[in-house]
Amino acid sequence: MVETPTPQDQAAYVPADVPLRELAEQHGLHIGAAVSAHPLRQEPAYALAVTHEFNMLTTENAAKFGPIHPQPDRYAFADADTIVDLAAAHDMLVRGHTLVWHRQLPSWVENGDWTRDELLAVLREHIHTIVGRYQGRIAAWDVVNEAIDGREMRDTIWQRVIGPEYVDLAFRWAHEADPDALLFYNDYGGEGMNKKSDAIYDLVKGMQDRGVPIHGVGLQMHVTAGGQPPAENLRRNIERLSALGLQVHITELDVRISGEPTPAKLQQQADTYRQVLDVCLETPGCKAVVLWGFTDRYSWIPGAFKGYGSALIFDESYRPKPAYQALHEVLARQPNE
Ligand code: XIL
Repeated sequence: MVETPTPQDQAAYVPADVPLRELAEQHGLHIGAAVSAHPLRQEPAYALAVTHEFNMLTTENAAKFGPIHPQPDRYAFADADTIVDLAAAHDMLVRGHTLVWHRQLPSWVENGDWTRDELLAVLREHIHTIVGRYQGRIAAWDVVNEAIDGREMRDTIWQRVIGPEYVDLAFRWAHEADPDALLFYNDYGGEGMNKKSDAIYDLVKGMQDRGVPIHGVGLQMHVTAGGQPPAENLRRNIERLSALGLQVHITELDVRISGEPTPAKLQQQADTYRQVLDVCLETPGCKAVVLWGFTDRYSWIPGAFKGYGSALIFDESYRPKPAYQALHEVLARQPNE
């Protein structure tokens, strides 16, 4: 759990003269951040920075199975509604995250003793309900998240009880509920050219061959400062996916720093952000870059990677870091420059 900052601790975001979204729009690129409903409601600086700088929002946790569907017959839409409503009011697109995953499941799903038919019915109802509720308001869904482990289908409740067909079915059901939503397969570690990105490529190509409605691949991109895939490999991977007619979104970009954020490490972090955005901007299939948060005040990194932190582009007081300047510089280039 992220601690709620006390009011004395509140720091002010100073609106940029030329925000990132204004620059990104000149390139037809979406620039986004994953956000949480709680600080959106509680902290004016958080909401101001989000709406000023970004034109795309991802529901960080609010639309995951556990948070949004805590009991078989109870949905909790309030947090996702907050994010979707804010986005609509500020002309931002929403990426819904995520319909099928093996983490953050409610215990009634996790601990149920399901037959295949029962679990299929649960998943179908879940997808129809969520996607249907936000029809026309969530532009893109991460339908299936992290289904590949190495080169194989990951061993999850969905895979064990339903079998690999759960992936195709999830996309078909999402498409039924909102025929206009863009449907993505999203995963980590397959950003550059490697065994995992080969497996992702094979999965989505197979889906297309079977006539499954899939429109894009999300590359999460949780990396260390200096640890991003080589630019050339990222470019080649995006190109081979877009050659299938799929869009690519960078969906969860953050760049974690080990230990104290010294000026040298912050510069290295800025270079990593710069390089990822640069590749996306110059590779036509790449349509969006979404950060996994935007301020070090709220980031999953310290809780998930021991000894790491400072992964985002604003510090804990909403001051822009060198990484922000780097993104700004890349986006400030004239289109086709
Ligand atoms: C993370 C959230 O940021 C945390 O708040 C939560 O405790 C765990 O999940 N890959 C994903 C995201 O697809 O959903 C994860 O988000 C980060 C890794």
